[in-house]
Amino acid sequence: MARVAIVTGGTRGIGEAISLALKAQGRTVVANYAGNDERAKRFSAAHGIPIYKWDVGDHEACQDGCRRVSEEVGDVDIVVNNAGITRDGTLHKMTFDDWNEVMRINLGGCFNMAKACFPGMRERGWGRIVNIGSINGQAGQYGQVNYAAAKSGIHGFTKALAQEGARVGVTVNAIAPGYIDTDMVAAVPEPVLEKIVAKIPVGRLGQAEEIARGVAFLTSDEAGFVTGSTMSINGGQHMY
Ligand code: CAA
Repeated sequence: MARVAIVTGGTRGIGEAISLALKAQGRTVVANYAGNDERAKRFSAAHGIPIYKWDVGDHEACQDGCRRVSEEVGDVDIVVNNAGITRDGTLHKMTFDDWNEVMRINLGGCFNMAKACFPGMRERGWGRIVNIGSINGQAGQYGQVNYAAAKSGIHGFTKALAQEGARVGVTVNAIAPGYIDTDMVAAVPEPVLEKIVAKIPVGRLGQAEEIARGVAFLTSDEAGFVTGSTMSINGGQHMY
């Protein structure tokens, strides 16, 4: 039977590409989303991938949502923690709410989803968790103390959980995307983005599919010896 994968934030941007790549690999994919109903319905209709709406920053909602997926689709073998938001601003302008929301969703979401799905993977002796970090969690970024802290936290979370999963067949890895051509990056003011792109050795933004291919590898049956790692896919912008 095909393994079941949940992709959080799986109906748009990088998440959409990941959902499609895992489906192409023969997984039974479920896409979680939190906000944009219209986009999610269009995505589901176009690709035949079921959608489940909940906020990954909400612990109880993750418990309920993952339980529903297990009952309606099957035991969850693969979790891709991709859902994330930005609330950019320099520290002196950033509000506590900007800080808290980014930590709650980007980092808290990884804990909440792992808490809901890791115990079952442990019991069944097979699992794959991939957490989407960021170049900005590795290198920092002006105007992103919240996002950089949350993404940096994801890299620590990954290495710690990888140690817990190693003996029970569960691998836990991270991907650190650079600047990818998505709505999130399109929201960066044009002159700022131009300067960023000028610093990417490959000379362009990345494509969502280039991240998805990394996730497909890390969640494959053949990648059982890869755990606790961070795959940087950033066009050479940060060689870590
Ligand atoms: N280093 C040093 N100084 C910088 C700087 C930098 N990287 N960027 C801007 N500054 C300076 C500016 O030159 C300016 O100085 P002057 O007033 O002397 O000219 C000052 O800081 C204020 O800059 P802004 O006008 O940009 O300030 P703002 O308050 O209007 O905007 C900001 C601040 C919202 C953070 C804006 O700079 C911005 O959006 N930056 C981009 C942040 C970014 O890269 N976000 C990534 C989003 S995508 C993502 O996160 C996905 C991923 O994982 C990669």
